[in-house]
Amino acid sequence: MRKRKKIRLKKQVKLVLCLIVFIILAIVIGKSIYKDHVYKNSYEYKLEVHGYSADEVKLLIKNLSNKKLDELLESEKNDVLISLLKEKYFLKKNLDRYLDYYDKHKQTELSQIIAIVNVYADYETYEHDIDTDINKDELILCNKYYKLSADYEPDDLVQMNSKYYYGDSQSVRQEVYDAFIDMWNAANEEGIYLIVNSSYRTYADQDEVYNSYKDSYGEKEADAVAARAGYSEHQTGLAIDVFSKDNTSRATFKESLAYSWLEANAYKYGFILRYPEGKENITGYGAESWHYRYVGKDVAEYIYENDITFDEYYAYFIEK
Ligand code: DAL
Ligand code: ZN
Repeated sequence: MRKRKKIRLKKQVKLVLCLIVFIILAIVIGKSIYKDHVYKNSYEYKLEVHGYSADEVKLLIKNLSNKKLDELLESEKNDVLISLLKEKYFLKKNLDRYLDYYDKHKQTELSQIIAIVNVYADYETYEHDIDTDINKDELILCNKYYKLSADYEPDDLVQMNSKYYYGDSQSVRQEVYDAFIDMWNAANEEGIYLIVNSSYRTYADQDEVYNSYKDSYGEKEADAVAARAGYSEHQTGLAIDVFSKDNTSRATFKESLAYSWLEANAYKYGFILRYPEGKENITGYGAESWHYRYVGKDVAEYIYENDITFDEYYAYFIEK
């Protein structure tokens, strides 16, 4: 009697054990099937099957909405998109505009498209106005998209000593003046006599400058060389037009020793050549070998070493 009971108990234990093993197996297999199902439905899997590498998949997932990823899966592998995402100054918020621009300008290099779109140069000039942030101090941006109000005037303008300019008296912001004097002294030690002929201009001054060009050469020409009132960084007190005592010609200053010196050294004092050659489609102006803009030493060094414009710097590092 006791023996039979024992056998029955043993059988029951075996059954329970079998059941436990079965449940564990079911959980393990079920989990693996579920995981596989989830993975096959993930963008990681679908994009890899679509031909994107693991790194590309990471980039796509980081930068595109699910809606965009779904659209992407409906067409062939998009190599242009991948190249855009890998660009140094790519900004997620501008993706649609990069792609639009690319569709209309397929021959343009992608790094150019990034730069153009980042600085709003894909919009018509003077048709996409942004009130510039005057709290940015020495990093206030003024260009054909960012403007100042007519009554903006810096509150720390100082008059320059007459040895630093020719023509009408000149003023700049205090920090700019200090930096300019340092730069002037360094240039002077190398036998170069820098001399300013334009610096701070009021809104009304700028209006006069722009209109005189417009009256003489027409609007298109005027827009290539002068800012319309409100859009000039001369109104910030952070810009100077600088020549040398022996060469004050806009036409030939670029060939002067002073220009070469400034080009190689101005950034050490916080100044950048604001309208360089070859960047006209970004800055909106023809090259000006005399127009320097104070941005502070760190920013000037970055702009100089990376060969970008202040407009691009602002878009990527400040406005972002
Ligand atoms: N010449 C520069 C662009 C200005 O007028 O501000
Ligand atoms: Zn200027």
